[in-house]
Amino acid sequence: MENKLVSSWCKNVQTLPESYIFPPDERPGEIAVPLSGSSPIIDFNTDHALILQQVNKAGQDFGYFQVINHGISETLLEETVSVFKEFFNMPAEEQANYYSVDPNSKCRLYTSTYNYSNEDTHYWRDNLTHNCHPLEDNLPFWPEKPANYREVVSAYSVETKKLITKISDVISEGLGFEKGYLGGELSKVQLLSVNYYPPCPDPNLALGMHSHCDPNLFTVLYQGNVYGLQILKDGKWTGVEPLPNAFVVFIGCQLQIISNDKLKSVTHRAVTNPKEARVSVGTFVIPSSDCHIEPVSDLGKTSTKNPLYKAYQYKEFLHTYATKHGDFEAVLQFYKL
Ligand code: OGA
Ligand code: NI
Repeated sequence: MENKLVSSWCKNVQTLPESYIFPPDERPGEIAVPLSGSSPIIDFNTDHALILQQVNKAGQDFGYFQVINHGISETLLEETVSVFKEFFNMPAEEQANYYSVDPNSKCRLYTSTYNYSNEDTHYWRDNLTHNCHPLEDNLPFWPEKPANYREVVSAYSVETKKLITKISDVISEGLGFEKGYLGGELSKVQLLSVNYYPPCPDPNLALGMHSHCDPNLFTVLYQGNVYGLQILKDGKWTGVEPLPNAFVVFIGCQLQIISNDKLKSVTHRAVTNPKEARVSVGTFVIPSSDCHIEPVSDLGKTSTKNPLYKAYQYKEFLHTYATKHGDFEAVLQFYKL
């Protein structure tokens, strides 16, 4: 299959190709978007009660938060980003070995979206996706290049898994669920999704990633120190400032529904910049496809008394999400009681 990765050809172009220019009403615009001054930042190395309270509040008011002092070393984060940079800078012939748009493939390297061939306008990004847990079952499908890929990405996956458990326990407790309630089937899959946004000749006309809510339980994103992430807050796009060594945590659609709207899922997107390549390392915490989902209360043991949404299996949700083209409002409406 022909390798269409932006990273494989963008160094040879000075102007943005027509097929990457969005219609005027969808462009990120000329005006620099202010970075969110009130962005919720939570120190994980502090008083437990304070963390609970801050996570709950941020989840309600913003639908996302940044975590600092999370326990993952700066060295590991830097090594991880540099391995992915190297991966996306390999010669096109090397990259071609991993190129796959089949969403069922165990390791996917593709550009823009899986729907590339039917898109009106392409996104200025490449993506590498594979599962991480359990490690021994998934590692054989990972790239073997760069030479330290498996070693570094294993370490990163193991450390993020620990952080995911911490976050999931805090969210569980904050919602009044039993400790570990959000673990198990609700957090069955740990999917790594790495985005590479090469420097873009005209960031005002292009987009790195479409506006969306994450459909899963929650997402842990490491965005390094290059700006590009925006959230939709009170109808306005606002930049999420990259903080050194911080993780951005997004409340996913499933957490909004399970919590009966106590926590909110936030709409976000990625923009590009003309100077620096940007790597963002997403880890999606995803329910098993047969997982039963509904708004719950009483330590998570019973259905909520006044549920806003009907119950469903996670795979049904994904199907609905796909038929509504990822429009979260439309999906919520579909499950509303
Ligand atoms: C995602 C996502 C944002 C970014 O992968 O779901 O929202 O900054 N990424 O790359
Ligand atoms: Ni996202």
